Amino acid sequence: MILSIESSCDDSSISITEIETKKLIYHKKISQELEHSKYGGVVPELASRLHAIALPAILEECKPWFDQLKAIAVTNEPGLAVTLIEGVTMAKALSIALNIPVLPINHLKGHIYSLFIEKEAVFPLTILLVSGGHTQVIEVTSHKDMTTVATTMDDSYGESFDKVAKMMGLGYPGGPLIEKLAHAGDASHFIFTVPLWQSPLIAFSYSGLKNQVRLAVEANNPIDYPDIAYAFQKTATDHLIQKLKKYFKSRKPHRFAIVGGASANLYLRGEIEKLLSTYNTALLLAPLEFCADNAAMIGRCAVEEFIRGNHLAYNDITVNPRCKL
Ligand code: KG4
Ligand code: ZN
Repeated sequence: MILSIESSCDDSSISITEIETKKLIYHKKISQELEHSKYGGVVPELASRLHAIALPAILEECKPWFDQLKAIAVTNEPGLAVTLIEGVTMAKALSIALNIPVLPINHLKGHIYSLFIEKEAVFPLTILLVSGGHTQVIEVTSHKDMTTVATTMDDSYGESFDKVAKMMGLGYPGGPLIEKLAHAGDASHFIFTVPLWQSPLIAFSYSGLKNQVRLAVEANNPIDYPDIAYAFQKTATDHLIQKLKKYFKSRKPHRFAIVGGASANLYLRGEIEKLLSTYNTALLLAPLEFCADNAAMIGRCAVEEFIRGNHLAYNDITVNPRCKL
Protein backbone atom coordinates (compact mmCIF):
# COMPACT_ATOMS: atom_id res chain seq x y z
CA MET A 1 0.00 0.00 0.00
CA ILE A 2 0.98 3.63 -0.51
CA LEU A 3 0.12 6.40 1.93
CA SER A 4 -0.34 9.72 0.08
CA ILE A 5 -0.36 13.27 1.41
CA GLU A 6 -1.84 16.39 -0.25
CA SER A 7 -1.27 19.91 1.14
CA SER A 8 -0.59 22.06 -1.95
CA CYS A 9 -3.22 24.69 -1.04
CA ASP A 10 -6.05 24.73 1.51
CA ASP A 11 -7.04 21.05 1.76
CA SER A 12 -5.28 18.70 4.21
CA SER A 13 -5.79 15.19 2.87
CA ILE A 14 -4.32 11.70 3.30
CA SER A 15 -5.19 8.49 1.45
CA ILE A 16 -4.08 4.86 1.43
CA THR A 17 -4.14 3.04 -1.92
CA GLU A 18 -3.52 -0.64 -2.60
CA ILE A 19 -0.84 -0.92 -5.27
CA GLU A 20 -1.94 -4.06 -7.10
CA THR A 21 -5.72 -3.47 -7.16
CA LYS A 22 -5.60 0.38 -7.11
CA LYS A 23 -8.30 0.18 -4.44
CA LEU A 24 -8.78 3.23 -2.25
CA ILE A 25 -8.47 1.78 1.26
CA TYR A 26 -8.70 5.03 3.22
CA HIS A 27 -9.32 8.68 2.35
CA LYS A 28 -9.89 11.75 4.47
CA LYS A 29 -9.80 15.46 3.72
CA ILE A 30 -10.13 18.45 6.02
CA SER A 31 -10.88 21.66 4.09
CA GLN A 32 -10.03 25.11 5.37
CA GLU A 33 -12.71 26.96 3.38
CA LEU A 34 -14.40 28.44 6.46
CA GLU A 35 -11.15 29.80 7.89
CA HIS A 36 -10.18 31.53 4.61
CA SER A 37 -13.70 32.64 3.71
CA LYS A 38 -13.59 35.91 5.63
CA TYR A 39 -10.46 36.96 3.68
CA GLY A 40 -12.04 36.13 0.27
CA GLY A 41 -9.10 33.87 -0.64
CA VAL A 42 -6.42 31.57 0.76
CA VAL A 43 -3.99 33.14 3.26
CA PRO A 44 -0.84 30.99 2.80
CA GLU A 45 0.60 31.30 6.34
CA LEU A 46 -2.77 30.52 7.91
CA ALA A 47 -3.17 27.53 5.56
CA SER A 48 0.26 26.25 6.57
CA ARG A 49 -0.56 26.43 10.29
CA LEU A 50 -3.90 24.67 9.75
CA HIS A 51 -2.14 21.85 7.83
CA ALA A 52 0.23 21.44 10.79
CA ILE A 53 -2.82 20.66 12.96
CA ALA A 54 -5.01 18.71 10.50
CA LEU A 55 -2.43 16.41 8.86
CA PRO A 56 -1.17 14.76 12.12
CA ALA A 57 -4.81 14.33 13.25
CA ILE A 58 -5.67 12.45 10.02
CA LEU A 59 -2.42 10.46 10.13
CA GLU A 60 -3.36 9.13 13.56
CA GLU A 61 -6.23 7.20 11.89
CA CYS A 62 -3.80 5.60 9.38
CA LYS A 63 -1.61 3.87 11.98
CA PRO A 64 -3.29 0.41 11.57
CA TRP A 65 -1.90 0.24 7.99
CA PHE A 66 1.66 1.43 8.75
CA ASP A 67 3.22 -2.05 8.62
CA GLN A 68 1.75 -2.65 5.12
CA LEU A 69 3.13 0.53 3.53
CA LYS A 70 5.68 0.28 0.68
CA ALA A 71 6.08 4.04 0.07
CA ILE A 72 4.92 7.50 1.08
CA ALA A 73 3.64 9.71 -1.76
CA VAL A 74 3.44 13.47 -1.40
CA THR A 75 2.49 16.45 -3.57
CA ASN A 76 5.77 18.38 -3.90
CA GLU A 77 4.85 20.64 -6.88
CA PRO A 78 3.26 23.05 -7.85
CA GLY A 79 1.45 24.91 -5.06
CA LEU A 80 2.01 27.28 -2.16
CA ALA A 81 5.57 26.90 -0.83
CA VAL A 82 4.56 27.18 2.83
CA THR A 83 1.80 24.57 2.53
CA LEU A 84 3.67 22.09 0.30
CA ILE A 85 6.41 22.01 2.93
CA GLU A 86 3.94 20.74 5.56
CA GLY A 87 3.11 17.61 3.55
CA VAL A 88 6.69 17.08 2.39
CA THR A 89 8.04 17.33 5.95
CA MET A 90 5.51 14.75 7.13
CA ALA A 91 6.43 12.46 4.20
CA LYS A 92 10.13 12.70 5.05
CA ALA A 93 9.49 11.96 8.73
CA LEU A 94 7.39 8.89 7.84
CA SER A 95 10.02 7.75 5.35
CA ILE A 96 12.68 7.80 8.08
CA ALA A 97 10.45 6.24 10.76
CA LEU A 98 9.13 3.40 8.55
CA ASN A 99 12.28 3.03 6.44
CA ILE A 100 10.42 3.27 3.11
CA PRO A 101 11.00 5.57 0.07
CA VAL A 102 9.12 8.72 -0.96
CA LEU A 103 7.24 9.24 -4.26
CA PRO A 104 7.16 12.96 -5.19
CA ILE A 105 3.93 13.71 -7.09
CA ASN A 106 3.08 16.61 -9.41
CA HIS A 107 -0.29 18.05 -8.34
CA LEU A 108 -1.49 18.60 -11.93
CA LYS A 109 -0.69 14.99 -12.82
CA GLY A 110 -2.63 14.08 -9.69
CA HIS A 111 -5.71 15.92 -11.02
CA ILE A 112 -5.44 13.92 -14.26
CA TYR A 113 -5.46 10.68 -12.24
CA SER A 114 -8.64 11.79 -10.40
CA LEU A 115 -10.29 10.29 -13.52
CA PHE A 116 -8.86 6.85 -12.77
CA ILE A 117 -9.38 6.33 -9.01
CA GLU A 118 -9.96 2.56 -8.54
CA LYS A 119 -9.80 2.21 -12.36
CA GLU A 120 -7.36 1.48 -15.16
CA ALA A 121 -6.05 4.59 -16.93
CA VAL A 122 -6.99 5.13 -20.59
CA PHE A 123 -4.96 7.16 -23.07
CA PRO A 124 -4.72 9.04 -25.42
CA LEU A 125 -6.74 11.80 -23.82
CA THR A 126 -7.20 15.54 -24.37
CA ILE A 127 -7.66 17.24 -21.01
CA LEU A 128 -9.06 20.59 -19.92
CA LEU A 129 -7.57 21.31 -16.49
CA VAL A 130 -9.53 24.05 -14.69
CA SER A 131 -8.49 24.70 -11.10
CA GLY A 132 -7.76 27.66 -8.85
CA GLY A 133 -4.21 27.94 -10.14
CA HIS A 134 -4.40 26.56 -13.69
CA THR A 135 -6.34 26.68 -16.94
CA GLN A 136 -4.69 24.40 -19.47
CA VAL A 137 -5.34 22.05 -22.35
CA ILE A 138 -3.10 19.00 -22.05
CA GLU A 139 -2.51 16.19 -24.55
CA VAL A 140 -1.78 12.95 -22.72
CA THR A 141 -0.54 9.97 -24.69
CA SER A 142 0.90 7.97 -21.78
CA HIS A 143 1.81 8.36 -18.11
CA LYS A 144 5.12 9.88 -19.18
CA ASP A 145 3.99 11.94 -22.17
CA MET A 146 1.88 14.90 -21.14
CA THR A 147 2.14 18.11 -23.19
CA THR A 148 0.48 21.42 -22.37
CA VAL A 149 -0.85 22.81 -25.67
CA ALA A 150 -2.71 25.87 -24.34
CA THR A 151 -2.53 27.79 -21.10
CA THR A 152 -3.67 31.04 -19.51
CA MET A 153 -1.86 34.30 -20.05
CA ASP A 154 -2.89 35.58 -16.61
CA ASP A 155 -5.56 34.27 -14.20
CA SER A 156 -7.28 30.91 -14.17
CA TYR A 157 -10.95 30.03 -14.75
CA GLY A 158 -11.48 28.94 -11.11
CA GLU A 159 -9.61 31.91 -9.67
CA SER A 160 -11.77 34.34 -11.66
CA PHE A 161 -14.86 32.85 -9.93
CA ASP A 162 -13.10 33.40 -6.57
CA LYS A 163 -12.33 37.03 -7.41
CA VAL A 164 -15.85 37.80 -8.66
CA ALA A 165 -17.30 36.27 -5.48
CA LYS A 166 -14.95 38.45 -3.46
CA MET A 167 -16.11 41.58 -5.37
CA MET A 168 -19.69 40.68 -4.46
CA GLY A 169 -18.76 39.95 -0.83
CA LEU A 170 -19.90 36.31 -1.10
CA GLY A 171 -16.94 34.48 0.52
CA TYR A 172 -14.57 31.71 -0.62
CA PRO A 173 -14.34 29.49 -2.65
CA GLY A 174 -16.19 31.52 -5.24
CA GLY A 175 -16.89 28.76 -7.79
CA PRO A 176 -19.86 27.06 -6.10
CA LEU A 177 -21.16 30.41 -4.75
CA ILE A 178 -21.20 32.09 -8.18
CA GLU A 179 -22.63 28.97 -9.86
CA LYS A 180 -25.49 28.96 -7.32
CA LEU A 181 -26.11 32.71 -7.65
CA ALA A 182 -26.15 32.43 -11.46
CA HIS A 183 -29.10 29.99 -11.26
CA ALA A 184 -31.28 32.92 -10.21
CA GLY A 185 -29.82 35.15 -12.93
CA ASP A 186 -31.11 36.25 -16.29
CA ALA A 187 -29.12 36.07 -19.52
CA SER A 188 -30.20 39.30 -21.11
CA HIS A 189 -29.31 42.06 -18.62
CA PHE A 190 -25.52 42.09 -18.81
CA ILE A 191 -23.27 41.28 -21.75
CA PHE A 192 -19.51 40.93 -21.32
CA THR A 193 -16.96 40.65 -24.11
CA VAL A 194 -15.51 37.16 -24.54
CA PRO A 195 -11.74 37.37 -23.88
CA LEU A 196 -9.43 37.06 -26.92
CA TRP A 197 -12.39 36.34 -29.21
CA GLN A 198 -10.74 38.00 -32.19
CA SER A 199 -7.27 36.68 -31.45
CA PRO A 200 -5.91 33.72 -33.43
CA LEU A 201 -4.10 32.57 -30.27
CA ILE A 202 -5.20 29.35 -28.62
CA ALA A 203 -4.70 30.65 -25.09
CA PHE A 204 -6.84 31.88 -22.20
CA SER A 205 -7.13 35.16 -20.33
CA TYR A 206 -9.39 36.18 -17.46
CA SER A 207 -7.98 39.49 -16.22
CA GLY A 208 -9.98 41.63 -18.71
CA LEU A 209 -13.23 39.80 -17.96
CA LYS A 210 -12.64 40.26 -14.22
CA ASN A 211 -12.29 43.98 -14.83
CA GLN A 212 -15.53 44.12 -16.85
CA VAL A 213 -17.30 42.37 -13.98
CA ARG A 214 -15.74 44.70 -11.39
CA LEU A 215 -17.11 47.75 -13.25
CA ALA A 216 -20.58 46.15 -13.44
CA VAL A 217 -20.51 45.26 -9.72
CA GLU A 218 -19.47 48.79 -8.77
CA ALA A 219 -22.14 50.40 -10.97
CA ASN A 220 -25.07 48.24 -9.85
CA ASN A 221 -26.99 47.10 -6.76
CA PRO A 222 -26.71 43.68 -5.08
CA ILE A 223 -30.14 42.90 -6.53
CA ASP A 224 -28.42 42.70 -9.96
CA TYR A 225 -25.63 40.34 -8.77
CA PRO A 226 -27.42 37.15 -9.93
CA ASP A 227 -27.63 38.58 -13.46
CA ILE A 228 -23.97 39.65 -13.33
CA ALA A 229 -23.01 36.18 -12.02
CA TYR A 230 -24.95 34.56 -14.87
CA ALA A 231 -23.31 36.74 -17.53
CA PHE A 232 -19.85 36.23 -16.00
CA GLN A 233 -20.17 32.41 -15.82
CA LYS A 234 -21.49 32.32 -19.40
CA THR A 235 -18.69 34.53 -20.77
CA ALA A 236 -15.93 32.71 -18.83
CA THR A 237 -17.23 29.40 -20.20
CA ASP A 238 -17.87 30.68 -23.75
CA HIS A 239 -14.19 31.67 -23.80
CA LEU A 240 -13.10 28.09 -23.03
CA ILE A 241 -15.53 26.66 -25.62
CA GLN A 242 -14.46 29.13 -28.34
CA LYS A 243 -10.76 28.31 -27.90
CA LEU A 244 -11.41 24.56 -27.72
CA LYS A 245 -13.40 24.75 -30.99
CA LYS A 246 -10.44 26.51 -32.59
CA TYR A 247 -8.04 23.88 -31.26
CA PHE A 248 -10.24 20.99 -32.44
CA LYS A 249 -10.04 22.30 -36.03
CA SER A 250 -6.48 21.02 -36.22
CA ARG A 251 -6.84 18.11 -33.79
CA LYS A 252 -10.13 16.33 -33.29
CA PRO A 253 -10.19 14.87 -29.76
CA HIS A 254 -10.41 11.11 -29.52
CA ARG A 255 -11.35 11.23 -25.82
CA PHE A 256 -11.83 14.36 -23.73
CA ALA A 257 -11.82 14.99 -19.98
CA ILE A 258 -12.29 17.96 -17.64
CA VAL A 259 -10.37 17.85 -14.34
CA GLY A 260 -9.64 20.24 -11.43
CA GLY A 261 -11.85 21.93 -8.85
CA ALA A 262 -13.82 23.95 -11.41
CA SER A 263 -14.70 20.79 -13.39
CA ALA A 264 -17.53 20.48 -10.82
CA ASN A 265 -19.28 23.41 -12.55
CA LEU A 266 -22.44 21.98 -14.12
CA TYR A 267 -22.84 24.82 -16.62
CA LEU A 268 -19.30 24.15 -17.90
CA ARG A 269 -19.98 20.39 -18.05
CA GLY A 270 -23.17 21.02 -20.07
CA GLU A 271 -21.44 23.32 -22.57
CA ILE A 272 -18.53 20.88 -23.04
CA GLU A 273 -21.02 18.03 -23.57
CA LYS A 274 -22.76 20.07 -26.30
CA LEU A 275 -19.42 20.81 -27.98
CA LEU A 276 -18.25 17.19 -27.87
CA SER A 277 -21.54 15.84 -29.26
CA THR A 278 -20.70 17.51 -32.58
CA TYR A 279 -17.46 15.49 -32.73
CA ASN A 280 -18.92 12.27 -31.33
CA THR A 281 -16.20 12.38 -28.65
CA ALA A 282 -16.52 10.65 -25.27
CA LEU A 283 -16.32 12.82 -22.12
CA LEU A 284 -14.57 11.55 -18.99
CA LEU A 285 -15.22 13.19 -15.62
CA ALA A 286 -14.02 12.46 -12.10
CA PRO A 287 -16.69 11.83 -9.44
CA LEU A 288 -17.71 15.21 -7.93
CA GLU A 289 -16.02 14.38 -4.60
CA PHE A 290 -12.63 14.02 -6.35
CA CYS A 291 -12.76 17.15 -8.58
CA ALA A 292 -11.28 19.47 -5.93
CA ASP A 293 -7.92 18.78 -4.26
CA ASN A 294 -7.69 15.41 -2.53
CA ALA A 295 -5.13 12.73 -1.66
CA ALA A 296 -7.04 9.92 -3.43
CA MET A 297 -5.95 11.31 -6.83
CA ILE A 298 -2.37 11.69 -5.54
CA GLY A 299 -2.44 8.03 -4.42
CA ARG A 300 -3.75 6.84 -7.79
CA CYS A 301 -0.96 8.72 -9.59
CA ALA A 302 1.54 7.40 -7.02
CA VAL A 303 0.70 3.80 -7.98
CA GLU A 304 1.91 4.56 -11.53
CA GLU A 305 5.10 6.19 -10.21
CA PHE A 306 5.74 3.24 -7.87
CA ILE A 307 5.31 0.69 -10.69
CA ARG A 308 7.90 2.66 -12.70
CA GLY A 309 10.34 2.73 -9.77
CA ASN A 310 10.26 6.52 -9.46
CA HIS A 311 10.81 6.62 -5.70
CA LEU A 312 13.49 8.66 -4.00
CA ALA A 313 15.28 8.73 -0.67
CA TYR A 314 13.76 11.28 1.71
CA ASN A 315 16.71 13.68 1.46
CA ASP A 316 16.34 13.91 -2.35
CA ILE A 317 12.79 15.34 -2.19
CA THR A 318 12.50 19.06 -2.95
CA VAL A 319 9.55 21.44 -2.92
CA ASN A 320 8.96 23.15 -6.31
CA PRO A 321 6.14 25.70 -5.87
CA ARG A 322 6.24 27.01 -9.45
CA CYS A 323 6.86 23.82 -11.35
CA LYS A 324 4.48 23.00 -14.23
CA LEU A 325 3.48 19.63 -15.66
O1 KG4 B 1 -8.36 21.97 -8.03
P1 KG4 B 1 -8.73 22.86 -6.88
O2 KG4 B 1 -9.46 22.25 -5.72
O3 KG4 B 1 -7.48 23.61 -6.29
C1 KG4 B 1 -6.40 24.00 -7.08
O4 KG4 B 1 -5.59 23.14 -7.48
O5 KG4 B 1 -6.36 25.24 -7.37
O6 KG4 B 1 -9.62 24.04 -7.50
C2 KG4 B 1 -10.15 25.05 -6.71
C3 KG4 B 1 -10.82 26.06 -7.62
C4 KG4 B 1 -11.28 27.31 -6.87
O7 KG4 B 1 -10.86 28.43 -7.61
C5 KG4 B 1 -12.80 27.17 -6.90
O8 KG4 B 1 -13.51 28.40 -6.88
C6 KG4 B 1 -13.01 26.43 -8.20
O9 KG4 B 1 -11.98 25.49 -8.23
N1 KG4 B 1 -14.33 25.79 -8.22
C7 KG4 B 1 -15.30 26.12 -9.11
C8 KG4 B 1 -16.43 25.34 -8.77
N2 KG4 B 1 -16.09 24.55 -7.69
C9 KG4 B 1 -14.81 24.84 -7.38
N3 KG4 B 1 -15.29 27.00 -10.12
C10 KG4 B 1 -16.43 27.14 -10.83
N4 KG4 B 1 -17.56 26.44 -10.55
C11 KG4 B 1 -17.62 25.54 -9.54
N5 KG4 B 1 -18.72 24.87 -9.27
ZN1 ZN C 1 -5.73 21.29 -7.44
